[in-house]
Amino acid sequence: MLEKIKQLEEEIERFSCEVEKSLEDWRIKLLGKKGEITQLFEEFKNVVPEQKREFGQRLNNLKNSAINKIVAIKEKLEVSVIEGNKEDKTRPAEQVTLGTRHPISLVKREITSIFSKLGFTVEEGPEIEDDWHVFSALNFPPEHPARDMQDTFFISKDPDILLRTHTSSVQVRVMQNQKPPIRAIMPGRVFRNEAISARAHCIFHQVEGLYIDENVSFTDLKQTLLSFAREMFGENTEIRLRPSYFPFTEPSAEMDVSCKICNGAGCNVCKYTGWLEVLGCGMVDPNVLENCGIDSKRYSGFAFGMGVERIAMLKYQIKDLRLYFENDLRFLRQFTQSY
Ligand code: PHE
Repeated sequence: MLEKIKQLEEEIERFSCEVEKSLEDWRIKLLGKKGEITQLFEEFKNVVPEQKREFGQRLNNLKNSAINKIVAIKEKLEVSVIEGNKEDKTRPAEQVTLGTRHPISLVKREITSIFSKLGFTVEEGPEIEDDWHVFSALNFPPEHPARDMQDTFFISKDPDILLRTHTSSVQVRVMQNQKPPIRAIMPGRVFRNEAISARAHCIFHQVEGLYIDENVSFTDLKQTLLSFAREMFGENTEIRLRPSYFPFTEPSAEMDVSCKICNGAGCNVCKYTGWLEVLGCGMVDPNVLENCGIDSKRYSGFAFGMGVERIAMLKYQIKDLRLYFENDLRFLRQFTQSY
Protein backbone atom coordinates (compact mmCIF):
# COMPACT_ATOMS: atom_id res chain seq x y z
CA MET A 1 0.00 0.00 0.00
CA LEU A 2 2.80 2.36 0.89
CA GLU A 3 4.37 1.63 -2.50
CA LYS A 4 1.11 2.55 -4.25
CA ILE A 5 0.80 5.82 -2.29
CA LYS A 6 4.35 6.83 -3.20
CA GLN A 7 3.74 6.01 -6.84
CA LEU A 8 0.56 8.10 -6.92
CA GLU A 9 2.26 11.02 -5.15
CA GLU A 10 4.84 11.09 -7.92
CA GLU A 11 2.17 10.80 -10.61
CA ILE A 12 0.26 13.77 -9.17
CA GLU A 13 3.48 15.77 -9.00
CA ARG A 14 4.30 15.06 -12.66
CA PHE A 15 0.85 15.27 -14.20
CA SER A 16 -0.02 17.96 -16.74
CA CYS A 17 -2.50 18.18 -19.59
CA GLU A 18 -3.71 20.62 -22.28
CA VAL A 19 -7.37 19.67 -22.74
CA GLU A 20 -10.26 19.35 -20.33
CA LYS A 21 -11.13 15.86 -21.51
CA SER A 22 -7.80 14.35 -20.38
CA LEU A 23 -8.10 16.15 -17.04
CA GLU A 24 -11.55 14.62 -16.48
CA ASP A 25 -10.25 11.16 -17.44
CA TRP A 26 -7.42 11.53 -14.97
CA ARG A 27 -9.84 12.64 -12.22
CA ILE A 28 -11.92 9.52 -12.78
CA LYS A 29 -8.81 7.35 -12.84
CA LEU A 30 -7.82 8.63 -9.37
CA LEU A 31 -11.00 9.68 -7.60
CA GLY A 32 -13.84 8.03 -9.51
CA LYS A 33 -15.93 5.23 -7.91
CA LYS A 34 -13.30 2.70 -8.89
CA GLY A 35 -10.47 5.22 -8.90
CA GLU A 36 -7.04 4.33 -7.55
CA ILE A 37 -7.27 6.64 -4.55
CA THR A 38 -10.84 5.55 -3.82
CA GLN A 39 -9.53 2.00 -3.95
CA LEU A 40 -6.82 2.83 -1.40
CA PHE A 41 -9.47 4.14 0.99
CA GLU A 42 -11.21 0.74 0.67
CA GLU A 43 -7.95 -1.06 1.48
CA PHE A 44 -7.42 1.29 4.44
CA LYS A 45 -10.18 -0.56 6.27
CA ASN A 46 -7.83 -3.53 6.51
CA VAL A 47 -4.88 -1.61 7.89
CA VAL A 48 -3.89 -2.70 11.40
CA PRO A 49 -4.99 -0.22 14.10
CA GLU A 50 -1.38 0.79 15.06
CA GLN A 51 -0.76 2.00 11.49
CA LYS A 52 -4.15 3.63 10.87
CA ARG A 53 -3.03 7.03 12.04
CA GLU A 54 0.02 7.26 9.78
CA PHE A 55 -1.69 5.74 6.73
CA GLY A 56 -4.80 7.83 7.27
CA GLN A 57 -2.79 11.06 7.16
CA ARG A 58 -0.86 10.04 4.04
CA LEU A 59 -4.02 8.99 2.27
CA ASN A 60 -5.85 12.22 3.08
CA ASN A 61 -2.82 14.24 1.94
CA LEU A 62 -2.74 12.25 -1.27
CA LYS A 63 -6.41 12.89 -1.98
CA ASN A 64 -6.06 16.63 -1.23
CA SER A 65 -3.03 17.06 -3.44
CA ALA A 66 -4.89 15.28 -6.29
CA ILE A 67 -7.91 17.61 -5.85
CA ASN A 68 -5.69 20.73 -5.65
CA LYS A 69 -3.82 19.72 -8.78
CA ILE A 70 -7.08 19.14 -10.72
CA VAL A 71 -8.51 22.53 -9.65
CA ALA A 72 -5.28 24.33 -10.58
CA ILE A 73 -5.11 22.76 -14.04
CA LYS A 74 -8.81 23.46 -14.63
CA GLU A 75 -8.36 27.18 -13.85
CA LYS A 76 -5.38 27.40 -16.17
CA LEU A 77 -7.33 25.74 -18.98
CA GLU A 78 -10.31 28.13 -18.54
CA VAL A 79 -8.11 31.21 -18.72
CA SER A 80 -6.45 29.97 -21.84
CA VAL A 81 -9.87 29.23 -23.41
CA ILE A 82 -10.92 32.88 -22.83
CA GLU A 83 -7.61 34.18 -24.12
CA GLY A 84 -7.83 31.83 -27.07
CA ASN A 85 -11.21 33.35 -27.98
CA LYS A 86 -9.66 36.79 -28.24
CA GLU A 87 -7.46 35.45 -30.95
CA ASP A 88 -10.29 33.61 -32.70
CA LYS A 89 -10.52 35.42 -36.00
CA THR A 90 -13.73 33.62 -36.96
CA ARG A 91 -15.64 34.82 -33.91
CA PRO A 92 -18.60 37.10 -34.89
CA ALA A 93 -17.66 40.77 -34.50
CA GLU A 94 -19.06 42.78 -31.63
CA GLN A 95 -21.70 45.20 -32.77
CA VAL A 96 -20.50 48.80 -32.94
CA THR A 97 -23.14 51.49 -32.94
CA LEU A 98 -22.05 54.31 -35.19
CA GLY A 99 -23.04 57.91 -34.64
CA THR A 100 -24.56 59.90 -37.46
CA ARG A 101 -23.54 63.27 -38.81
CA HIS A 102 -25.58 66.30 -37.87
CA PRO A 103 -27.81 67.46 -40.75
CA ILE A 104 -26.00 70.82 -40.77
CA SER A 105 -22.66 69.04 -41.22
CA LEU A 106 -24.12 66.85 -43.96
CA VAL A 107 -25.41 69.83 -45.92
CA LYS A 108 -22.26 71.87 -45.33
CA ARG A 109 -20.15 69.00 -46.65
CA GLU A 110 -22.39 68.59 -49.65
CA ILE A 111 -22.20 72.30 -50.50
CA THR A 112 -18.43 72.24 -50.05
CA SER A 113 -18.06 69.19 -52.27
CA ILE A 114 -20.17 70.71 -55.06
CA PHE A 115 -18.12 73.92 -55.10
CA SER A 116 -14.81 72.09 -54.85
CA LYS A 117 -15.73 70.31 -58.08
CA LEU A 118 -16.12 73.78 -59.60
CA GLY A 119 -12.60 74.70 -58.44
CA PHE A 120 -13.43 76.61 -55.24
CA THR A 121 -11.07 76.28 -52.26
CA VAL A 122 -12.30 76.45 -48.64
CA GLU A 123 -11.30 79.41 -46.45
CA GLU A 124 -11.99 79.99 -42.78
CA GLY A 125 -11.67 82.99 -40.49
CA PRO A 126 -12.32 84.11 -36.90
CA GLU A 127 -15.81 84.22 -35.35
CA ILE A 128 -14.79 87.17 -33.18
CA GLU A 129 -14.13 90.05 -35.55
CA ASP A 130 -13.64 93.79 -35.68
CA ASP A 131 -16.01 96.31 -37.22
CA TRP A 132 -13.80 96.82 -40.25
CA HIS A 133 -13.89 93.21 -41.53
CA VAL A 134 -17.61 92.72 -40.88
CA PHE A 135 -18.96 96.12 -41.92
CA SER A 136 -16.65 98.97 -42.98
CA ALA A 137 -14.62 97.13 -45.61
CA LEU A 138 -17.88 95.79 -47.01
CA ASN A 139 -19.25 99.25 -47.71
CA PHE A 140 -21.77 99.40 -44.85
CA PRO A 141 -22.46 103.08 -44.17
CA PRO A 142 -21.81 104.15 -40.53
CA GLU A 143 -25.52 104.43 -39.77
CA HIS A 144 -26.48 101.06 -41.29
CA PRO A 145 -29.03 99.23 -39.06
CA ALA A 146 -27.01 95.96 -39.07
CA ARG A 147 -24.40 97.76 -36.94
CA ASP A 148 -27.03 98.33 -34.30
CA MET A 149 -26.83 96.49 -30.96
CA GLN A 150 -30.24 95.07 -31.86
CA ASP A 151 -28.72 92.99 -34.64
CA THR A 152 -25.11 92.49 -33.66
CA PHE A 153 -23.56 90.99 -30.55
CA PHE A 154 -20.84 93.43 -29.48
CA ILE A 155 -18.03 92.24 -27.26
CA SER A 156 -16.57 95.72 -26.82
CA LYS A 157 -17.07 99.26 -28.11
CA ASP A 158 -14.14 101.47 -29.11
CA PRO A 159 -12.55 99.49 -30.56
CA ASP A 160 -15.63 97.68 -31.89
CA ILE A 161 -15.13 93.96 -31.38
CA LEU A 162 -18.10 91.77 -32.24
CA LEU A 163 -19.33 88.33 -33.25
CA ARG A 164 -19.43 88.18 -37.04
CA THR A 165 -22.94 88.49 -38.47
CA HIS A 166 -21.94 86.91 -41.78
CA THR A 167 -18.90 85.10 -43.21
CA SER A 168 -18.38 87.95 -45.69
CA SER A 169 -15.71 89.00 -43.18
CA VAL A 170 -13.69 86.02 -44.39
CA GLN A 171 -14.07 87.28 -47.97
CA VAL A 172 -12.41 90.51 -46.85
CA ARG A 173 -9.53 88.58 -45.29
CA VAL A 174 -9.08 86.43 -48.38
CA MET A 175 -9.02 89.49 -50.67
CA GLN A 176 -6.46 91.17 -48.42
CA ASN A 177 -4.21 88.14 -48.32
CA GLN A 178 -4.44 86.61 -51.78
CA LYS A 179 -3.94 87.87 -55.30
CA PRO A 180 -6.58 87.24 -57.99
CA PRO A 181 -7.65 84.92 -59.44
CA ILE A 182 -9.48 84.03 -56.21
CA ARG A 183 -12.07 81.29 -56.15
CA ALA A 184 -13.08 80.30 -52.62
CA ILE A 185 -16.00 79.43 -50.36
CA MET A 186 -16.21 80.37 -46.69
CA PRO A 187 -18.27 78.09 -44.46
CA GLY A 188 -18.75 79.06 -40.84
CA ARG A 189 -20.87 79.99 -37.84
CA VAL A 190 -22.45 83.42 -37.64
CA PHE A 191 -24.28 85.27 -34.88
CA ARG A 192 -27.21 87.68 -34.90
CA ASN A 193 -29.14 89.12 -32.00
CA GLU A 194 -32.50 87.58 -32.89
CA ALA A 195 -35.27 86.15 -30.73
CA ILE A 196 -35.19 82.36 -31.09
CA SER A 197 -38.21 80.94 -32.94
CA ALA A 198 -39.08 78.26 -35.50
CA ARG A 199 -37.70 80.54 -38.26
CA ALA A 200 -34.85 82.43 -36.58
CA HIS A 201 -31.93 81.65 -34.30
CA CYS A 202 -29.11 83.74 -32.86
CA ILE A 203 -26.50 81.22 -34.10
CA PHE A 204 -26.56 79.75 -37.58
CA HIS A 205 -24.24 78.64 -40.37
CA GLN A 206 -23.41 80.20 -43.70
CA VAL A 207 -21.45 79.25 -46.76
CA GLU A 208 -20.38 82.29 -48.74
CA GLY A 209 -18.51 82.23 -52.03
CA LEU A 210 -16.19 84.61 -53.87
CA TYR A 211 -14.78 84.59 -57.37
CA ILE A 212 -12.44 87.35 -58.54
CA ASP A 213 -10.57 87.48 -61.83
CA GLU A 214 -10.35 89.59 -64.98
CA ASN A 215 -13.65 89.78 -66.86
CA VAL A 216 -15.87 87.99 -64.36
CA SER A 217 -19.46 88.82 -65.26
CA PHE A 218 -22.97 88.30 -63.96
CA THR A 219 -23.32 85.44 -66.48
CA ASP A 220 -20.56 83.53 -64.65
CA LEU A 221 -22.42 84.06 -61.38
CA LYS A 222 -25.68 82.81 -62.86
CA GLN A 223 -24.12 79.71 -64.41
CA THR A 224 -22.24 78.84 -61.21
CA LEU A 225 -25.41 79.14 -59.14
CA LEU A 226 -27.44 77.12 -61.65
CA SER A 227 -24.88 74.30 -61.54
CA PHE A 228 -24.92 74.42 -57.77
CA ALA A 229 -28.73 74.36 -57.55
CA ARG A 230 -29.00 71.39 -59.90
CA GLU A 231 -26.37 69.38 -58.02
CA MET A 232 -27.95 70.23 -54.69
CA PHE A 233 -31.67 69.98 -55.42
CA GLY A 234 -31.83 67.78 -58.53
CA GLU A 235 -31.24 67.87 -62.27
CA ASN A 236 -34.41 69.66 -63.35
CA THR A 237 -34.20 72.43 -60.78
CA GLU A 238 -34.82 75.92 -62.19
CA ILE A 239 -33.45 79.10 -60.65
CA ARG A 240 -34.78 82.64 -60.62
CA LEU A 241 -32.80 85.77 -59.74
CA ARG A 242 -34.72 88.68 -58.20
CA PRO A 243 -33.13 92.13 -57.89
CA SER A 244 -32.13 92.89 -54.30
CA TYR A 245 -29.75 95.05 -52.30
CA PHE A 246 -26.60 94.39 -50.29
CA PRO A 247 -24.10 97.15 -49.43
CA PHE A 248 -21.18 95.07 -50.74
CA THR A 249 -22.54 93.94 -54.13
CA GLU A 250 -23.81 95.89 -57.13
CA PRO A 251 -25.98 94.75 -58.81
CA SER A 252 -27.38 92.41 -56.15
CA ALA A 253 -29.90 89.60 -56.38
CA GLU A 254 -31.66 86.93 -54.42
CA MET A 255 -31.89 83.46 -55.86
CA ASP A 256 -34.96 81.23 -55.70
CA VAL A 257 -35.10 77.57 -56.73
CA SER A 258 -38.16 75.85 -58.12
CA CYS A 259 -40.08 74.03 -55.39
CA LYS A 260 -39.34 70.30 -55.49
CA ILE A 261 -42.33 69.40 -53.36
CA CYS A 262 -45.05 70.63 -55.72
CA ASN A 263 -42.96 71.09 -58.90
CA GLY A 264 -44.13 74.65 -59.18
CA ALA A 265 -47.86 73.95 -58.70
CA GLY A 266 -47.87 75.65 -55.29
CA CYS A 267 -47.85 74.11 -51.81
CA ASN A 268 -47.51 75.26 -48.21
CA VAL A 269 -43.69 74.81 -48.26
CA CYS A 270 -43.28 77.38 -51.06
CA LYS A 271 -46.26 79.34 -49.79
CA TYR A 272 -48.08 78.67 -53.08
CA THR A 273 -45.50 80.56 -55.16
CA GLY A 274 -43.69 77.55 -56.68
CA TRP A 275 -40.34 79.10 -55.62
CA LEU A 276 -38.09 78.89 -52.56
CA GLU A 277 -35.59 81.58 -51.61
CA VAL A 278 -32.12 80.13 -51.02
CA LEU A 279 -29.37 82.74 -51.20
CA GLY A 280 -28.18 86.29 -51.77
CA CYS A 281 -25.60 87.22 -54.40
CA GLY A 282 -24.21 89.93 -56.64
CA MET A 283 -21.18 91.47 -58.32
CA VAL A 284 -18.62 92.61 -55.73
CA ASP A 285 -18.89 96.40 -55.38
CA PRO A 286 -15.72 98.09 -56.76
CA ASN A 287 -15.43 99.99 -53.44
CA VAL A 288 -15.07 96.66 -51.62
CA LEU A 289 -12.34 95.50 -54.03
CA GLU A 290 -10.45 98.76 -53.49
CA ASN A 291 -10.90 98.58 -49.68
CA CYS A 292 -9.21 95.19 -49.79
CA GLY A 293 -6.34 96.26 -52.04
CA ILE A 294 -7.60 94.83 -55.35
CA ASP A 295 -7.49 96.96 -58.51
CA SER A 296 -11.18 97.36 -59.44
CA LYS A 297 -10.30 98.58 -62.96
CA ARG A 298 -8.54 95.35 -63.78
CA TYR A 299 -10.56 92.86 -61.74
CA SER A 300 -14.22 92.13 -61.16
CA GLY A 301 -15.89 89.41 -59.16
CA PHE A 302 -19.05 87.87 -57.85
CA ALA A 303 -20.06 86.82 -54.36
CA PHE A 304 -22.90 84.81 -52.89
CA GLY A 305 -23.97 83.71 -49.45
CA MET A 306 -26.41 81.11 -48.19
CA GLY A 307 -27.72 79.87 -44.86
CA VAL A 308 -26.92 76.19 -44.30
CA GLU A 309 -29.93 75.74 -41.99
CA ARG A 310 -32.21 77.04 -44.71
CA ILE A 311 -30.81 74.68 -47.36
CA ALA A 312 -31.10 71.76 -44.91
CA MET A 313 -34.69 72.78 -44.14
CA LEU A 314 -35.55 72.63 -47.81
CA LYS A 315 -33.68 69.40 -48.43
CA TYR A 316 -35.05 67.49 -45.45
CA GLN A 317 -38.41 69.23 -44.96
CA ILE A 318 -37.49 70.50 -41.50
CA LYS A 319 -40.09 72.96 -40.26
CA ASP A 320 -38.47 74.22 -37.05
CA LEU A 321 -34.92 75.64 -36.84
CA ARG A 322 -34.69 74.87 -33.13
CA LEU A 323 -34.47 71.14 -33.88
CA TYR A 324 -30.91 71.67 -35.12
CA PHE A 325 -29.76 72.81 -31.68
CA GLU A 326 -31.68 70.55 -29.33
CA ASN A 327 -29.66 67.37 -29.98
CA ASP A 328 -32.74 65.16 -29.70
CA LEU A 329 -31.51 61.71 -30.73
CA ARG A 330 -34.85 60.85 -32.34
CA PHE A 331 -34.23 63.74 -34.74
CA LEU A 332 -30.51 63.19 -35.27
CA ARG A 333 -30.78 59.43 -35.91
CA GLN A 334 -32.76 60.10 -39.07
CA PHE A 335 -29.67 61.37 -40.86
CA THR A 336 -27.58 58.38 -41.78
CA GLN A 337 -26.11 59.43 -45.12
CA SER A 338 -22.40 58.85 -45.52
CA TYR A 339 -21.47 62.37 -46.70
N1 PHE B 1 -23.59 88.30 -46.44
C1 PHE B 1 -24.95 88.21 -46.88
C2 PHE B 1 -25.83 87.84 -45.71
O1 PHE B 1 -25.35 87.52 -44.67
C3 PHE B 1 -25.13 87.22 -47.99
C4 PHE B 1 -24.46 87.65 -49.27
C5 PHE B 1 -23.15 87.27 -49.50
C6 PHE B 1 -25.12 88.40 -50.21
C7 PHE B 1 -22.52 87.65 -50.66
C8 PHE B 1 -24.51 88.76 -51.38
C9 PHE B 1 -23.21 88.40 -51.61
O2 PHE B 1 -27.03 87.85 -45.82
